[in-house]
Amino acid sequence: MKAEQEKTNEKSFYITTPLYYVNAEPHIGHAYTTLAADIIARYMKRQNKKVFLQTGTDEHGSNIEKTAAAKDISPKNFADLICGKFIKAWQTLAIEYDYFIRTTDENHEQQVQAVFEHLIKTGDIYPGKYEGLYCSSCENFYEKEELTDGLCPVHRKNVETVKEDTYFFRLSKYEKPLLKYYAENPSFLSPPKRAQEIINFVKSGLKDISVSRTKVSWGIPVRSNPGHTIYVWFDALLNYITGPGFRLPFKELEQRKKFEEIWPADIHLVGKEIYRFHVVIWPAMLMALNLPLPKKVFAHGWWTANGEKMSKSKGNFINPSTVVEKYGLDPFRYFIFKEVPFGNDGDFSFEMLEKRYNSDLANDLGNLFSRTMNLALKNLEKLPALEEHKEIEERILRTESKLKQDMENIRLTEYLNKIWKLISELNKKIDSEKPWEKIKTEPDKAKKTLSEISLYLIRIADWIYPFMPETSEKMTNFTATFKFQYGSKTKPPVLFPRMQCSKKP
Ligand code: MSP
Repeated sequence: MKAEQEKTNEKSFYITTPLYYVNAEPHIGHAYTTLAADIIARYMKRQNKKVFLQTGTDEHGSNIEKTAAAKDISPKNFADLICGKFIKAWQTLAIEYDYFIRTTDENHEQQVQAVFEHLIKTGDIYPGKYEGLYCSSCENFYEKEELTDGLCPVHRKNVETVKEDTYFFRLSKYEKPLLKYYAENPSFLSPPKRAQEIINFVKSGLKDISVSRTKVSWGIPVRSNPGHTIYVWFDALLNYITGPGFRLPFKELEQRKKFEEIWPADIHLVGKEIYRFHVVIWPAMLMALNLPLPKKVFAHGWWTANGEKMSKSKGNFINPSTVVEKYGLDPFRYFIFKEVPFGNDGDFSFEMLEKRYNSDLANDLGNLFSRTMNLALKNLEKLPALEEHKEIEERILRTESKLKQDMENIRLTEYLNKIWKLISELNKKIDSEKPWEKIKTEPDKAKKTLSEISLYLIRIADWIYPFMPETSEKMTNFTATFKFQYGSKTKPPVLFPRMQCSKKP
């Protein structure tokens, strides 16, 4: 009873993904961030943390307004359609999210309006006139010097000149407090290689930013001045607090307690192109609201497909569901984190996926499991207990503590590398100790080899769970119900049938 109570009051481990724009269908880039969040969440759940994973869709703004108009459909109907595709994709990828937020949710819209009015009152938002450059694909304002050959540096598209009445957010006021926060919380800007650029950017001086538009109608109206709609980023960033129940004002103590159990976020996971929004504007907004800041914002790199930025028009847009249909869920979940160090950019190709499937999964893990379990079934009466093998127990504990550090620091690829290094060592061990031969001449030695490898495999099944939940379960179900099967035809499951290299699906 006491333990349960303690658990209820414990702060949740809160992890988020960006809210994806509903102007494009989900592709492997979106899947990447969402899978990473799911992997970390699954790991933390197994560590008995109370996890809250939030994802969702970003549905307002000029870009979506334009895309829907071109299809002759209302922006809300269009958003419903694409949002449904994101939900379906996350089901296919076995994402265990706790809350899916849409920026068109009524509660979110009301809270965004309330925050805006509150900040007008405190003076953090004030009216003025804006003139500048805007890329509607990023929904971002640019200075002339930031453009590449006169084009948006992210999308390489023309920018528009915007000149209108606007409300400004007093970002400049938060320059020093932000620098102080970065200095006092060195793991906030993650991975470390992303920190310096941000610190330099903030040091070079922050300007107040425009946070309302008069020419975009598909947005949340400013309550006290409905000719303005709220800037889509100001609206979308607030999802991280409106989702877990922020209210302005909190009417009941219970409501506030529930929110404080979740907020602040432990990790915001984002792609590198939206890092500044999350580590400059968002913390400044939170400071203006007197709320605690997230503990870590981690930016990962970008996937290209066959060397090019993914886009529907180029025809290199990779749909995660197609990959899963052909190769299975776990191989996809494994591949995208093993192939490229999480944090770096990478290039996706089906050839690489097939190569890794055959080498790391079918050969290294699959073969080790099937060889060991087949021999164990024939020659061991039961699988040994870890306590009987002190040396192995110690090594397992050491590895577990290293894996924990990797997960806590979001070194997802290193986490997998450590496990595959051990798998390769175990394959060498079985090759050199040849228990299938030794069982006739030195049965005790052969049994020891099989027992030791089995012990590791039982732990490996557990360690790969966040990345490969189906495979982990298959392995665990088998080892947990292992019975001496001499002469029987029972076989361990084939984890990864070898595949013939083929063309893309
Ligand atoms: N709506 C904003 C985010 C608002 S968060 C309050 C947005 N949406 S987006 O649909 O463009 O999604 C961007 C995110 O999707 C990236 O930050 C990244 O997490 C993921 N990815 C989209 N394309 C990607 C790749 N090609 N590669 C890796 N991840 C990418 O920005």
